[in-house]
Amino acid sequence: MVSKRWTAAVLSGLLITSALSGCGGDDGDSGSGGGDGKLVLGFSQVGAESGWRTANTKSIQESAASAGVELKFSDAQGKQENQIKAIRNFITQRVDVIAFSPVVESGWDTVLKEAKDANIPVILTDRAVDSQDTSLYKTFIGSDFVLEGKKAGEWLVKDYTGKTDPVNIVELQGTPGAAPANDRKAGFADVIKADPKFKVVASQTGQFTRTDGKQVMETFLKAQPKIDVLYAHNDDMGLGAIEAIEAAGKKPGTDIKIITVDAVKDGMTALSEGKINYIVECSPLLGPQLMDLAKKVKAGETVPQRVLTEETTFTPEQAKAVLAERKY
Ligand code: AHR
Repeated sequence: MVSKRWTAAVLSGLLITSALSGCGGDDGDSGSGGGDGKLVLGFSQVGAESGWRTANTKSIQESAASAGVELKFSDAQGKQENQIKAIRNFITQRVDVIAFSPVVESGWDTVLKEAKDANIPVILTDRAVDSQDTSLYKTFIGSDFVLEGKKAGEWLVKDYTGKTDPVNIVELQGTPGAAPANDRKAGFADVIKADPKFKVVASQTGQFTRTDGKQVMETFLKAQPKIDVLYAHNDDMGLGAIEAIEAAGKKPGTDIKIITVDAVKDGMTALSEGKINYIVECSPLLGPQLMDLAKKVKAGETVPQRVLTEETTFTPEQAKAVLAERKY
């Protein structure tokens, strides 16, 4: 089944298409296929660091089952070396297609070259790699993380329109070296730099987890005499930070304004309660697109080099309106 988002993205004209024969030399006959003729997809997941990741894993597993794809799923527990091992195992097993969501952006060329030499097509899912050689993978499905950071910055600029006092911002970054951490930081910085009243007074990783988000926010609160805004690269870190802010006797969303990214159910609940002020959506529901692309790649059909996920933003009022039907 092809998702609404996938169809919308194709129709939007945002996609750059390229013939498969021109990227990677695949003849559409890689891999041995499942014993029962099913397409075999090896998928290496980052881990289970956040609500987003849990929803993404579920989307991939459920979509594989409904698309009749045999999924070999491997959890890297946040470690690049585990992902490299998993990809090498998939090559040894001669799966039809390999997909993965890279823990970090750099350091993939060698293993991707091994997959290419074995004539097994690779699909990047959710996160990009920084390889210069784009023939090492067939396509990349996922969000524009720079744009997400920009949307967060634009909300802030608008919210403080007409005010001149300095605005002290603390930032909880995602996993160091991960594409969403790099890009969300860059997009946000790019927008707020236009006005010198915005100052990022502290910026540290919270590893995309609630536990680290809470701990780092505690240190921010102790070290910084005045915090006006928290920008967290995901909901989970923002939710951890809310616990720290409340424990410090402050009111999240009022004493400290909070902007996060993802829009998972827990984040949307906090937004509807006014504890978060704004959420930039990042959709984890990539499973249907991935299955569709894997089948096309295996069949030697043309696929776009880049498939952008369609996303929106939420204010507290908008969160209240959609919360009941939010699936993840
Ligand atoms: O790559 C997507 C990011 O990874 C999500 O925003 C974050 O929650 C996750 O861990």
